[in-house]
Amino acid sequence: MNELPEHVRRNRALWDAWARKYVVSGEANWARDNPTWGIWGIPEAQVGMLPDDLAGKDAIELGCGTAYVSAWLARRGARVVGVDNSEAQLATARRLQHEYGFDFPLLHGNAEAIPYPDASFDFAISEYGACLWADPQRWVPEAARLLRPGGRLVFLVNSFLMALCVPAEDGVAATDRLLRAAFGMYRIEWPGDFGVEFHLSHGDWIRVLRLSGFEIEDLIEVRPPVGATTPYPFVTLEWARQWPCEEVWKARKRA
Ligand SMILES: C[S@@+](CC[C@H](N)C(=O)[O-])C[C@H]1O[C@@H](n2cnc3c(N)ncnc32)[C@H](O)[C@@H]1O
Repeated sequence: MNELPEHVRRNRALWDAWARKYVVSGEANWARDNPTWGIWGIPEAQVGMLPDDLAGKDAIELGCGTAYVSAWLARRGARVVGVDNSEAQLATARRLQHEYGFDFPLLHGNAEAIPYPDASFDFAISEYGACLWADPQRWVPEAARLLRPGGRLVFLVNSFLMALCVPAEDGVAATDRLLRAAFGMYRIEWPGDFGVEFHLSHGDWIRVLRLSGFEIEDLIEVRPPVGATTPYPFVTLEWARQWPCEEVWKARKRA
């Protein structure tokens, strides 16, 4: 535990404490056959997070939490591995896995250093997992190492624009003002005990992805439909209909 980077140690304690708040949504998502994504429950058809040819492929979820995304991958025929930094989150994942009759590996660990050999996977995915809570200078090269040439990385995370516009006070929604500087934004610690997040500009994402050996195939700025709802207080539908509050990055490891 001591050799873990400081942000990983802090985020582990945070997620072990938060895990019980994610049980109900984890159960609901395990029960769902058709994936929906992010804080607005965007249908898979709108964002195409999952390739159609998953059957027989090796897939890894980086920061799987309760592992419902891993379950969606397994149901599509992938050989999946879920990795998460929180044993408490994995306890829910293990219980649900058992209830649904799956037995894919669930690893307790840091997505920045995963104990699998190079080129073990065809597909890596993260929805608000390692892509938000791990250091991109570490987890992106690690994802590249784990993927085979031509393998795909897809992740969904808060938009950079929203990170500029959301007030530091907990529970207050993003405003139409730029509240902090874009230059120098990378690691964010919100006041209070909210762990360590990483929010990168588009330029920084492009650079870290390309330097790690990826070609970027798409960047989808997610727009929730009229009438969409979210349990999260940090953005309103009115805001998210005007500006992207979430983004999906799709990259492919260079052959
Ligand atoms: C919001 S959950 C993501 C799971 C699910 N997609 C969801 O949205 O509920 C964030 C997860 O990332 C995990 N996490 C944070 N830092 C991590 C790291 N360095 N390596 C692996 N998992 C990490 C946390 O333990 C937590 O379970």
